[in-house]
Amino acid sequence: MNAIVFDNVSKHYGDVLAVDDLSLAIEPGRTVALLGPNGAGKSTSINLLLGLLAPTQGTISIHGRTPAQAVKDGELGAMLQDGALIPELSVKELVDLVRRLYPNPLELGEILELADLTALAGRRAGKLSGGQAQRVRFALAMAGAPRILLLDEPTAAMDVESRLRFWAGMHDYAAGGRTVLFATHYLEEADEHSDRVIVIARGRVAADGTAAEIKRGVGGQTVRFALGEQPAAGLGTLPGVSAVEVSAGVVTLHTSDTDATVAGLYRGTTLDVRDLHLSGADLEAAFLAITRES
Ligand SMILES: Nc1ncnc2c1ncn2[C@@H]1O[C@H](COP(=O)(O)OP(=O)(O)O)[C@@H](O)[C@H]1O
Ligand SMILES: [Mg+2]
Repeated sequence: MNAIVFDNVSKHYGDVLAVDDLSLAIEPGRTVALLGPNGAGKSTSINLLLGLLAPTQGTISIHGRTPAQAVKDGELGAMLQDGALIPELSVKELVDLVRRLYPNPLELGEILELADLTALAGRRAGKLSGGQAQRVRFALAMAGAPRILLLDEPTAAMDVESRLRFWAGMHDYAAGGRTVLFATHYLEEADEHSDRVIVIARGRVAADGTAAEIKRGVGGQTVRFALGEQPAAGLGTLPGVSAVEVSAGVVTLHTSDTDATVAGLYRGTTLDVRDLHLSGADLEAAFLAITRES
């Protein structure tokens, strides 16, 4: 059974269509990035999963249950962008208070360790830096040992150090076969920390696959080489090639598959190719192309 299913889900806020006929399924145990520009509908999707919003149309299921039932059963833990903390309590008191609300919580020490809060256990919540407070929100999201963790732009307000520690904790938590869905507009985060990237733009899925597949699908890779005086005719028909540029004896082939293009170049032509240079599209370029297209 899928961990998360959106079945033709739409959400309107008055005239604004924030989620537009969204359908997707996420298998248990995956770490999935919901990647999209501001206003794409990421937070709305997460709030729909939590039952904090009701879809205008369509259905959502979490391990076969409604969002409300899933929340009641402790299936979901969430780190939202603006979750308030009780300022007078220490980190340890706050985490312990929340974990005790659940029937089968993680051990207090384990939570503090995962969120890298052991050294801050005695600090009052009101005295924490922005990044430290985010790590407490992360701890609270994991406290009930939910099978699904939802993280909405989790690293906002974190410094580099907090980020590194946060992602390490997230991977440790996910390693137990749990499902993680995190929203981000940072391409590097999606690339580095997920095994599947769902790009959303204007409330719709614009691309879905591994970061590598998304880069490949955009065709932003190039094969460049020197050809000197030799004619460049016919290069446009090599496998994967979408465009050919020639300038001062140097050819640039734009391709969706550098391997196939190079193989075709050596096997299918008799050209004397010099200074071969390959470059992959970065996710940034892929992302911009995808969100522009849709
Ligand atoms: N409470 C609301 N009322 C009206 N419009 C909203 C509300 N919340 C979000 N929106 C709009 O819905 C769209 C999606 O927003 P959101 O889900 O917050 O996107 P993201 O999290 O990807 O930045 C945006 O156009 C946003 O302005
Ligand atoms: Mg958001």
